[in-house]
Amino acid sequence: MTKSGTAQSYLPTLRPGGSPAQGLDTLREAAQRCRGCELYQGANQVVFSEGPPDAAVVMVGEQPGDVEDKKGEPFVGPAGRLLREAMEEAGIPVGDTYLTNAVKHFKFHQDSGSKRRLHDTPKRTEIVACRPWLLAEFALLRPRVVVALGAVACSALVGPAFRLTKVRGQLLDWPDVADHPEDYPSLDPPAQFVATVHPSAVLRADDRDAARAAFVADLIAAGAVMAPDRRGSTAKRPSAR
Ligand code: URA
Repeated sequence: MTKSGTAQSYLPTLRPGGSPAQGLDTLREAAQRCRGCELYQGANQVVFSEGPPDAAVVMVGEQPGDVEDKKGEPFVGPAGRLLREAMEEAGIPVGDTYLTNAVKHFKFHQDSGSKRRLHDTPKRTEIVACRPWLLAEFALLRPRVVVALGAVACSALVGPAFRLTKVRGQLLDWPDVADHPEDYPSLDPPAQFVATVHPSAVLRADDRDAARAAFVADLIAAGAVMAPDRRGSTAKRPSAR
């Protein structure tokens, strides 16, 4: 890690009066040069975000995976495919969703002699180092609902003591639920927060159908926050939980 151990010194100054879209473009471009922790050394590139700045739904994942690191786009690998299908089933329009990650570089290891890059969970220090980017994004976004996908996203958004299994799928007040709500703008109309598992946990589950149904149910709970006119028409009741 660098001496400062955070992305803070790599954050650009945003043009006063610039639009949120311009602000996000500026952040996206500057993030490519981030050396706030060591993860840039192994990864191909920063994977920043996808989606409109006025999206009603903001989804935060863990970090880009192997496919995302190669393509430079979030949630385009196997877990991303499952997420996008589950969103469609839950009636959450992908076009009205801003997708981002707690950590912007792919963290991985390779077994000796293997070319396969195997996911490593980011450490708390890496989550904290990358958090200035996440906060800078939230300063520009105006979500109705924030969805945390997995424990790393919960740790970055809310704090390390947050227990996702206790409140999974529940609507909580955003940003009040966070350890440091003052890090985020308070929104009018107010927003909600929903924590659920990471889609890769669904892919790994022994009972994948049940895990998938429970995941879709959490997304339906999140989607219920949106005004009816902003929802897709495909939401279905889950068959199992
Ligand atoms: N998993 C994530 O958390 N984010 C991605 O972008 C891809 C997989």
